[in-house]
Amino acid sequence: MMKKPKKMIIANWKMNVTSEKDAESLFLSIKNVVSKLEYTTMVCCPPHMYVNQVARYVDHRNYRVGGQDAYPEESGSRTGETSVLMMKNAGAEYVILGHSERRHLETKSDVARKVTAVLEHDMVPIICIGEEQRDKNWKKTLTQQLRDVFNRVPKKNPENIIIAYEPVWAISGDKKNPATAVEYMEALEVIKKELQKMFKTAKAVDDMRFLYGGSLDDKNIEDFLKNASVDGFLVGRVSHDPRVLMTMFRLIEDHEHRELFGQLDD
Ligand code: 13P
Repeated sequence: MMKKPKKMIIANWKMNVTSEKDAESLFLSIKNVVSKLEYTTMVCCPPHMYVNQVARYVDHRNYRVGGQDAYPEESGSRTGETSVLMMKNAGAEYVILGHSERRHLETKSDVARKVTAVLEHDMVPIICIGEEQRDKNWKKTLTQQLRDVFNRVPKKNPENIIIAYEPVWAISGDKKNPATAVEYMEALEVIKKELQKMFKTAKAVDDMRFLYGGSLDDKNIEDFLKNASVDGFLVGRVSHDPRVLMTMFRLIEDHEHRELFGQLDD
């Protein structure tokens, strides 16, 4: 796996694309733009049954395909499940795991087994953690979620691990309530401290990638770009809105260019 490269946008389409035709046209509507980006990569995570469809179009290193979940065994009598191996064979290189929208369907040890299986298949787990509320226990919730995974998962290849901080209160329901860059940085401090304890080296944590997700869009992304240390974003609602995505790409590209070369000449 490559080391921390460009900013990542992980597009979690959730259950919002309902036909092969729509999956294909959504992907194709952003493909050409993404292949020209200098500082941004994109991972598209369609519903399981369209992973293969979308993966057939992957011919540029700027975009990849991921699954929204996967069952931790390769095959067997598991009615209705899609295995990690099936995901891999369909072309997925990443798998979103532990998403708050799935946590009521699975136990903590299920999530840990999935992370282990994904790593064993040389794929990249995108491990979602996040508190329900910023109550007096929110930091404990985060550390416990990390322990629930990493006390059960071999602590190898940190460069293949992505942690997505997605506070449940920020994930768009009817109203948007994104976290601020300051709130993300508070959480990142807690997360990194705990991971360092568990992996026992600062280098391991340095090699991981950390994303923010929750009501992110073209209006609030700049707060994160300017004021947070973030390797990328996990987006839901805007992931199937090419117009908003394009604006977000442009904001990332401009920001990264400025970081490297100073002011843009315009
Ligand atoms: P929204 O961007 O719609 O808040 O969803 C975030 C999310 O759950 C991505 O996994």
